Amino acid sequence: MAVLGIDIGGTGIKGALVDGSGGELLGERFRVRTPRPATPETVAEGVVRIVEHFDWKGPVGAGFPAVVRQGQVCTAANIDDSWIGRNAEAIFGAATGCPFSVLNDADAAGMAEMRFGAGRGRSGVVLVLTIGTGIGSALFTDGRLVPNTEFGHIEMDGKAAEERTSARVRTRRQLSWKRWASRVDAYLQRVAFYLWPELIIIGGGVSKRHEKFLPHLTVDCEIVPARLRNEAGIIGAAAAADGGSGH
Ligand code: BGC
Repeated sequence: MAVLGIDIGGTGIKGALVDGSGGELLGERFRVRTPRPATPETVAEGVVRIVEHFDWKGPVGAGFPAVVRQGQVCTAANIDDSWIGRNAEAIFGAATGCPFSVLNDADAAGMAEMRFGAGRGRSGVVLVLTIGTGIGSALFTDGRLVPNTEFGHIEMDGKAAEERTSARVRTRRQLSWKRWASRVDAYLQRVAFYLWPELIIIGGGVSKRHEKFLPHLTVDCEIVPARLRNEAGIIGAAAAADGGSGH
């Protein structure tokens, strides 16, 4: 069954029709910029543009860049604070007339990688990190998701790790790939020290350029780029709406 998957990120809102069971995009992606400030009203307008673009009337799965429990937004690192306590499923549902399933964006991307990508068939502890505007995390044990982990917010040098190590910081500070990779390395060392994952999958926009930084990493753990690249968030969100989330 086709489902509309939407990935709401700190910078862009992307949507595509997805074959829920096969994990494949059924056509082109459509993208709008994430509005600033990213309030419930402005983000809902962006979501409406995506739904209207596809002339879609069915179920929608959406990844959202915050902790989301039963549709309710609990944090707001890269979106407007007025989201906290609001129900994203109800807001997008009312704005579009479509039934929405909303989950954390990194959890959505992680589920897609585990089902259809680099984590397929992998047991044990697997950590998926999406490095983009922020850093998102999805933790799996024997393929089961522990939802809403926030390892991008581990404190390093008095700051949230994502404030030193996200892809946005690399471009804003014009860090060379090598200098940025040393930050990523220090961050992964810390995460690995606490979690001892057997595999770390690096997703987000930077996964396309993995040859620029993966060779510089020294962490004693298998590290691979995401296979679904930047489409994992859309595919995982669609799969969640199709009943595969486990939430
Ligand atoms: C948020 C996470 C989100 C990540 C990636 C972080 O700032 O706290 O919930 O998954 O950004 O968008």
